[in-house]
Amino acid sequence: MQILVLGSGAREHAIIKALVRTGSDPAHIFCAPGNGGIAQEVSCINLNPNDPHQVADWALTNEIDLVIIGPEAPLVAGVSDALRAKNIAVFGPSQEAAKLEGSKSFAKEVMAAADVPTGMARECSNLTEVESALDLFGEPYVVKADGLAAGKGVIVTSDKTAALAHAKTFLDQGMGILVEEYLDGDEVSLFFLSDGKTVVPLTPAQDFKRAYDNDQGPNTGGMGAYSPLPWLPEGFIEEVTDKVALPTVREMSRLGIPFIGLLYCGLIITKRGIRVIEFNARFGDPETQVVLRRLLTPLAPLLHKSATGQLASADDIEFSPDVAVTVVLASEGYPVSSAPERLITGLDEAEQNKHIEIAHAATKVTPAGIVATGGRVLSVISMNENFHKARKHAYAAISKIKLEGSHYRTDIAAKVDEGNND
Ligand code: AMP
Ligand code: GLY
Repeated sequence: MQILVLGSGAREHAIIKALVRTGSDPAHIFCAPGNGGIAQEVSCINLNPNDPHQVADWALTNEIDLVIIGPEAPLVAGVSDALRAKNIAVFGPSQEAAKLEGSKSFAKEVMAAADVPTGMARECSNLTEVESALDLFGEPYVVKADGLAAGKGVIVTSDKTAALAHAKTFLDQGMGILVEEYLDGDEVSLFFLSDGKTVVPLTPAQDFKRAYDNDQGPNTGGMGAYSPLPWLPEGFIEEVTDKVALPTVREMSRLGIPFIGLLYCGLIITKRGIRVIEFNARFGDPETQVVLRRLLTPLAPLLHKSATGQLASADDIEFSPDVAVTVVLASEGYPVSSAPERLITGLDEAEQNKHIEIAHAATKVTPAGIVATGGRVLSVISMNENFHKARKHAYAAISKIKLEGSHYRTDIAAKVDEGNND
């Protein structure tokens, strides 16, 4: 099978590593545009992943059997639609179905119609409405921009002035605002493969969204993750399948916008039960690094079956009983400011440990060596029989990687390692 992966992050590198680990031939995998690490494993193509016609033409000319879309931008640009129009199998929802991620109010409508448990929310189009919704739900206040905001759209705060200022920033950009009730509890990311009719769960993971230890600092794209979550209640996956994923996919199908691809369910386990805080229309980053690290079933056939409406006939998905931990190395200033390109050293040494894989994100190959280009630079992924060992190896490896000004969290999976998740 000839496969084209779109994207350039650690998520895409992790997808490619999982494809190869579960039986795909790297000579038949292409990535556009890829990054410094991906280029060491498969061919990187100089294609704009957000240009539907460029991607579809290239895929057709190069006899691609399956396109896997990593990030959201190509989905929003309609790349899946252009590929489907040429009868190329694509793992990634249509532009319209991707609204489940891009429009929080659309997601809320779908959840209401499908009776999916989520937080109460009010849609607001001016500051007066925002203020009365804040007073209705009380503090802590949760204010969300109703559109793509590069991970900066949500604020959770007890400071009403800050909540209003956040709403004003996005209202001024012409976006709607969603004020939501605060949901208290542990967060879980659970991914489902969907072929538009049926869904298959992957394995749960937890993401660490704040920049610094002890959940301090600004929200980021994710600074680390681990899987599985041994503290989850019995029957959790079945409950999310039956009450969240399946009803959502059925409702999308009923609306005539089948969701084909990865349904990312961002959940909070509250005292009153499981609640959806967000849907994404793509694999999460960095959760994918730990979820796919534990995958034992061949990935390419699974994604191909999802893309072609045949998920019901897919093999049962198996995951290793071992645990996986990933720690993200971020460049200086992330997520607030960007750093200049800088040389990274120590990668080979870090990866010598057989329990360690490194998924590259913002890196490129230069004559001087591998250079970091800013943001989240790479994910160190560690797999082992327990969290204690997995963390120990992850942190030993990341300490060998030298990048001026870089930072990482030191408490990824610390609580689960101590057997204390509260
Ligand atoms: P989102 O972009 O919707 O995932 O939100 C970013 C983060 O804000 C989430 O991972 C949660 O930690 C937090 N958050 C979002 N919605 C809520 C909510 N209703 N109650 C509490 N925390 C929330
Ligand atoms: N890790 C959060 C996300 O991928 O949206």
